[in-house]
Amino acid sequence: YVAEIDAADTEKGTYAHFMLKEIDEQPIVMRKIIQKYQDEHGEIQLEDDVRQAMTQADRIYIIAAGTSYHAGLVGKQFIEKLAQVPVEVHISSEFSYNMPLLSEKPLFVFISQSGETADSRSVLVKTKALGHKALTITNVPGSTLSREADYTLHLHAGPEIAVASTKAYTAQIAVLALLAVGTAKAKCLHLHFDPLKELAIVASAMESLTDQKEAFEQLAKDLFSTTRNAFFIGRGNDYFVVQEAALKLKEISYIQAEGFAGGELKHGTIALIEDDTPVVAISTQENVNLSIRGNVQEVVARGAKAAIVSMKGLEKDSDAFVLPKVHELLTPLVSVIPMQLLSYYAALHRDCDVDKPRNLAKSVTVE
Ligand code: G6P
Repeated sequence: YVAEIDAADTEKGTYAHFMLKEIDEQPIVMRKIIQKYQDEHGEIQLEDDVRQAMTQADRIYIIAAGTSYHAGLVGKQFIEKLAQVPVEVHISSEFSYNMPLLSEKPLFVFISQSGETADSRSVLVKTKALGHKALTITNVPGSTLSREADYTLHLHAGPEIAVASTKAYTAQIAVLALLAVGTAKAKCLHLHFDPLKELAIVASAMESLTDQKEAFEQLAKDLFSTTRNAFFIGRGNDYFVVQEAALKLKEISYIQAEGFAGGELKHGTIALIEDDTPVVAISTQENVNLSIRGNVQEVVARGAKAAIVSMKGLEKDSDAFVLPKVHELLTPLVSVIPMQLLSYYAALHRDCDVDKPRNLAKSVTVE
């Protein structure tokens, strides 16, 4: 049995904010995706024409904006590592006016929670006119991007009301993982990765994180109560998540935040570190665990207030939080949850309007 999120469920219930409710719904959404993308033999179910479009493409172009773009960065890893198809990830508004040289048989994958983002639609219109096929991954199957593309994959995340996207991001990553594995299987590639099993482990890990909100509330208070700026650092998969972490914090707490690659610190950004500048590092990847910790030492030596969020097996006693272990390809699905909660509590402590931040709209239908 998988708990349903009712499509008419647009009430907050006992929650103070939609954002917190939507953060908590993420394990349910993972289980729903596992159920919806599985056939009766326990295999990944992709429509034939989607599978065909994916296997025939010589290059995938992922087009998205905001949080969906950050999900695309993670999706690229799945599609390249598992399905062995080269992927480029582009910001819609940039691609639209500055189109790169395209491959011979491109497939365009639009990632959009709302399916209505005008910047992304502009790319769809232009690439369709060139005769290229499009797949839209969206939470709203009847939306413009879904109707106008050749194929659609549904996120099954239920309505997302808070302007800051949370459950749509993790749903996008999960669906991209399944798309990559479905494509790999169609290409008869042999994988040592069972995404349905691994996503079930992720769902439980997410639950254990949403059960420990006090820890993140306290950390948010320590790091973000009064600061004007904040930095998030990571390498590999963690680099993609810190970009999303910084966006989340900016969107709802109005703290000037930046997410960047640990190794890039020394090339400029480290000049901004002062006494008590908050720096949050994510370390879930074994091959860069030592190097990101080295980066943390560099900022601490310059006065930063640092907190490391690591993963079981890679942790040190001084880490602020240790995440439950999940497959190394899927770590963004769990490491983002502390980042979402840190942003939520930072905004709450700073008396910001969590669900309706200033200057932002849930769906941006103008270019
Ligand atoms: C708006 C929202 C963001 C969202 C972006 C892309 O700017 O405020 O939260 O990530 O649009 O939206 P989409 O619906 O295309 O995923």
